[in-house]
Amino acid sequence: MIRRLCCLQSASPYPSVPLSTTIKKKPLVFLGAPQVSAIVLDALLNASASPHSTFEVAAIVTQPAARRARGKKLSLSPLATHALDRGFSSDLIFTPERAGEDTFLSNLKALHPQLCITAAYGNILPTKFLDIPSSGTVNIHPSLLPLYRGAAPVQRALQDGVKETGVSLAFTVRALDAGPIIATETIQVDDQIKAPDLLELLFHKAGSKLLTGELPSILDGSARVKAQPQDHSKATLAPKINADESWLSFDQEASVRAFSGWPGTRARVLVAEKNGQQKTLEIKIITTRVRSQSVQFDEADDVAFVDGALVFPCGRGTTLEVLEVQLPGKKAVNAAAFWNGLRGQKMKKL
Ligand SMILES: *[C@@H]1O[C@H](CO)[C@@H](O)[C@H](O)[C@H]1NC(C)=O
Repeated sequence: MIRRLCCLQSASPYPSVPLSTTIKKKPLVFLGAPQVSAIVLDALLNASASPHSTFEVAAIVTQPAARRARGKKLSLSPLATHALDRGFSSDLIFTPERAGEDTFLSNLKALHPQLCITAAYGNILPTKFLDIPSSGTVNIHPSLLPLYRGAAPVQRALQDGVKETGVSLAFTVRALDAGPIIATETIQVDDQIKAPDLLELLFHKAGSKLLTGELPSILDGSARVKAQPQDHSKATLAPKINADESWLSFDQEASVRAFSGWPGTRARVLVAEKNGQQKTLEIKIITTRVRSQSVQFDEADDVAFVDGALVFPCGRGTTLEVLEVQLPGKKAVNAAAFWNGLRGQKMKKL
């Protein structure tokens, strides 16, 4: 056995230096911020650690640390937190307010990135930025472009009740989500799925796979040639969801799914007090699940309490089960604690 190994070794015409130290790996820069971008980074770091990888993640760009809740300490973006957990050097994590800042751009230039990759980064990339990476910038966008260009593609698609959506890997150009498409993957939309879960599915299952699969062609330039220009006449927009829209309309089951999990989803309910008066409560909906089980409601608008959940009747015979709620200025509580606090007063949806 030992002799065979020796023979194999001496027969090899190559010096026994690992490949990675003889070939300089191509530097990539990854930009993102929320948890979904951390998932993509994870896949990218795994791929770069494989013995045959020709690239490395040279730097990460993310949003500056922010206060995620009132009175809370400054916290890093989920992407930065994940990068640090995986042993990424904090010197190589950049947090510019805007991607056009001069100091940031000169730091980026100094790395000579071959490619920049964005996944839910959230800042506009100016031409001064896009000119830096030699192979360009690519973006993972959670829709089938040219459909749902913009900040809220997943929520808008759910709101429209689409049966399928997907993820696109496209070159970044100055116009929003309008660059040539390298590859797409289609996903069937389950009618129970909610926005945060669909978002994760699109980035985790489809987006990471598309990116790592296409990286070789992007780095050798063939993706540039095969990328298909978008049909701009078919483009639709998916603008950011604003606070006014965060009021839940229980009659639109699709909007319940689209907005659940979106921070700040609120609902107005009517509580019938024992003294015959009624008061309106504004509750913030923290955790939900959508079900199509049948619940007997005393009256059409009544909210019931079943299996640890506040059950709101919605459109098309479906119900929204709310597991955690928060009253203004109070701590979030589970549905049982909230229901007990009503002490038998009836609650109706408004
Ligand atoms: C990266 O590798 C780790 C360890 O093998 C694994 O647990 C993780 O799921 C991988 N991540 C992705 C996105 O594939």
